[in-house]
Parts: sequence; structure tokens; C-alpha cells
Amino acid sequence: LMLLLSQSVAFAQNYDESKVPRYVLPDVLKTAGGKVIRNEDKWEKLRRPEVLKLFENNIYGRMPTDYDSIRYSLTQDDVPEMNGKATLKQVAVTVFRNRQSVQINVVLFVPTQARKPVPVFLLINNRGKENTDPTRVKKSEFWPAEMVIDSGFAIAAFQVSDLAPDNKDTYASGVLQKLYPEQLKMDNGMKAIGAWAWGASRVMDYFETDRDIDSKKVIVVGHSRGGKTSLWAAAEDQRFAACITNCSGNTGAALSRRQFGERISRINATFPHWFNNTYKKYNDKENALPVDQHMLIALIAPRPVYATNASKDLWADPKGTFLAMKAAEPVYALYGVRPELPSAQPGINMPSIGAHFGYHNREGEHNMTVYDWGNFVRFAKKFTSDK
Ligand code: GCU
Repeated sequence: LMLLLSQSVAFAQNYDESKVPRYVLPDVLKTAGGKVIRNEDKWEKLRRPEVLKLFENNIYGRMPTDYDSIRYSLTQDDVPEMNGKATLKQVAVTVFRNRQSVQINVVLFVPTQARKPVPVFLLINNRGKENTDPTRVKKSEFWPAEMVIDSGFAIAAFQVSDLAPDNKDTYASGVLQKLYPEQLKMDNGMKAIGAWAWGASRVMDYFETDRDIDSKKVIVVGHSRGGKTSLWAAAEDQRFAACITNCSGNTGAALSRRQFGERISRINATFPHWFNNTYKKYNDKENALPVDQHMLIALIAPRPVYATNASKDLWADPKGTFLAMKAAEPVYALYGVRPELPSAQPGINMPSIGAHFGYHNREGEHNMTVYDWGNFVRFAKKFTSDK
């Protein structure tokens, strides 16, 4: 019976485009009171704060910004690596509140030759330490540090487990219980994904003190659950210059109303520790949500966003991801940004890279690879190089 049950759940996922229901996206440019937003000033003063709050209250939870103090200690500083092409720093970022603390361990490679300060890619790493090995004995396509360094960018990473274990029973044991226990009592309190995004902002705090790093050119990167997090981090913290959301799928860059691949009911059942309690109200009720994910991308405007998919990763709804990017364009237009993406989803391995929007659907499986990173570098060059 268990087997039958779990199979019927699996088969309940729709992968058939003709079965996507008709839907109407919430209008990103209309306030709750019915006002139509026509310029960036009104967007920033009226609608943007409203949309941000809707995401906090209904999905990702509140993002606490207060803490008592923060300390940066360099456990390794300017260690030559990669045959002299880079220097390695390892930084322990310790955040204190109410006499409790949490430590985030950051690995950072800085290109030796590049003019300082340099732009940096910051990976929110949900796939384990072996992918971000500071010794470079282990190398991984997931974080191809040598390639990024050769391209003239710095590259950094931290582990999500430093903030909140990715586990429904123990997720609260990090930032939540130690620094912000009150969040655990709120229906709109943050959970694991909120805590990981909070961590990205604390690493940003550090970058603002590192003279090798251009803190106005920090590109936050995440894959899948990490890509949901990179979007949320960039939406909440406008210091991030750009966002890369790789195969982020449901409650990431894909539209929920399409009900294609993973759905809200499924993500909440499997990962009850990712989003706030209120989000569970929307299980099988996508149309009741006051937002859809195009509005999360819109919160990042006019900063650049790159979304990817993989052709065999229908679970993450490639088409729904592209459509969410397109549906965010009207907010970028308020800033004078013309549509850069084509009107139809580009074919497999046909990246579309503008100065504000990047998109590709890589051939293959759910993953982040050197192909993806190569395109992130091409994208980043468009908005980081001084003209
Ligand atoms: C699961 C989950 C996705 C998530 C992915 C990942 O497949 O359902 O929502 O993006 O894991 O993080 O790799």
C-alpha cells in the first residue's frame, strides 16, 4: 500500500504541457489597493515594499536584520594557490545576538592579476563541502574555481549547514534557535531557506570590509534549493548586484500557477522546513497566492538575473522558469530596461545573455556544471566591466 501511495503521488506530477491549466498571473504593477504603477519611484515606494511583504508573510518568512555584533577572523589570509593565479582566504564570520553566536565559514579565492577591488561570485552551497575544497585537491564542476579565477573574477562559497541543517527535524538548531528563537513561534517566521539567505547577507557584510572585493559587484549564486535561496537573498538584500538561480524550479524561478512538475503541496510535504507555516495554506491552491514567482524576480529589478534549466529536469519546469523571467520584464521596463530575452523560450544549449536578463536550458540533468558557469561569467562581464 505504501508503494502504491507513493507511486500515485509521483504520478500526480504533470509533465504534459497540454494539461497546464489556464491561469492568470497576479499583476505585479497593481497595488493591493488597485493603483497602477507607472514609474520606478512609485514601484519603489508603494508596490515593491508590498510585494516583498507578501513573499515574507506567505512564503519565505520574515528576514531579521538586527544582531548585536559581527566578527570576521581570517583563519587563512593571502595564501598563494592555483600556481600563483589566486590567493586563498578563509574567513570565519561570527554573528552575535543575546549572547549567543553562529559561525559562517567562508572560502574565498581572489585572482592575483586582476585589478582590485574585483567582482565576486558567492555560492550558497547546498551540496556539501567537498564541492568547495579550499585545498583544491578535490575539484568540482559545481564550483569551478580555477575557471572563474582565470576569467578575472573572485569566487567564494559558504555552506548552508552553517546556518540551518537541511533537515526537517533539526533545521532549527542553527541560526533559528540560537539567534532568532522568536521566529520559530511565528507563522510568517523564516525557516531554513530564510536562514540560508540571511547567511548570504552576513557574508555580504564581510565583503564590505574586504578591500580586495568590490562589494558593489557581488553576484549571489545558487543551485536548486540554493537557487531558491539566491533569489530570496537578492530580493531581500539590495546590496547584491546580481543573482544567478540555477535549476531553481518550484518556489524558485518557476511559475507556481502552471502546476507543472513539482508543486507547492509536494514541496511543502517533502521539505516542511524550507518555507514558513503560512505557505502550507496554498497546498493545491496556487491560484489563491497573492504572488507568483515572476514577482520575486521583479523584486531584484533593475539588477541582473540569470536563470537556468536543464533539459531533462522537467521537475523544475524549464518553460515556467522562462515565462517567469518574461513576466518580470514590465518592472525592469520602469527603469528603462528593454526586453532582452526572446519572446519564446530559447532552444536547448542556446543561451540568451543580455545585460539584465540571462537564460539558458542546458542539455542534460539537474545539476550545475562548467557549461552553466561559463555562461554566468559571460553574463557577469556585461555588467561588471567598466566602460
Ligand atoms: C528536490 C526538490 C526541489 C529542489 C531539489 C534540489 O528535487 O523537490 O525543489 O530544487 O531537490 O535542491 O536539488
